[in-house]
Amino acid sequence: MLEVSGLTKRYGDILAVDDVGFRLEKGEVAAFLGPNGAGKTTTLRIVTGYLPPTAGAVVIGGVDLRREPTKAKRMVGYLPEIPPLYPEMRVEGYLRFVGKLKGLRKQELEKAIEEAIDRCRLKDVRRRFVYALSKGYRQRLGLAQAILGNPGLLILDEPTAGLDPAQIVDMRSFILELKGSHTILLSTHILSEAAQICNRVLIIHKGKLVGDGTLEQFATGRSLEETYMGLVAYS
Ligand SMILES: Nc1ncnc2c1ncn2[C@@H]1O[C@H](COP(=O)(O)OP(=O)(O)O)[C@@H](O)[C@H]1O
Ligand SMILES: [Mg+2]
Repeated sequence: MLEVSGLTKRYGDILAVDDVGFRLEKGEVAAFLGPNGAGKTTTLRIVTGYLPPTAGAVVIGGVDLRREPTKAKRMVGYLPEIPPLYPEMRVEGYLRFVGKLKGLRKQELEKAIEEAIDRCRLKDVRRRFVYALSKGYRQRLGLAQAILGNPGLLILDEPTAGLDPAQIVDMRSFILELKGSHTILLSTHILSEAAQICNRVLIIHKGKLVGDGTLEQFATGRSLEETYMGLVAYS
């Protein structure tokens, strides 16, 4: 479903992503783990087509992102670190706006909106203005715009960051419900979250992929914590 090879990104002198490569099979749920500044957001922005790489290739569902960006992007739903919400729109109106941007046509669009509202439990606030939503509901709306139109690949950048404990439990349960119908790549620096939600673990440190395996491979013998610390600490 997703194939990344030789991915490199420089910001001037900073090498933010350094020759990263991995493949996600259909239905896999992968945690993208790494400390702050490791290069997670940069990688995810490249994979979603928001940022051009300095070098390397991204192939989504067999489609090369550089050669056929519109076709490739249609298969991706993206929840950025800060969801691009418009405060002056109503929940429904915002989803309609995003759906149109995604190229959904009338009937298909209304069906997709209902499905996203239902899956992200936004029914009670569908007529509310975005500015009047709590942080938890905003994040649900961010997830709803990502899943709108049912893209095969979901890219979620720290989906639980900044939420309170109850909202974190909510968000994790939504993601668990999406398992099975989507391939998911989600960044986090919370190891227990990765272990709870994902079956695959990718570890990035200083722009380099330093670990890639199934949760079982990482957790057998040593805990995920120990493995992670061994890979990223003080090196
Ligand atoms: N727009 C930018 N301009 C310059 N440097 C950037 C920019 N975005 C990120 N960086 C740098 O690239 C590195 C990786 O950042 P980022 O991808 O945001 O990491 P993470 O999401 O893992 O915290 C960091 O050193 C960060 O300071
Ligand atoms: Mg980040």
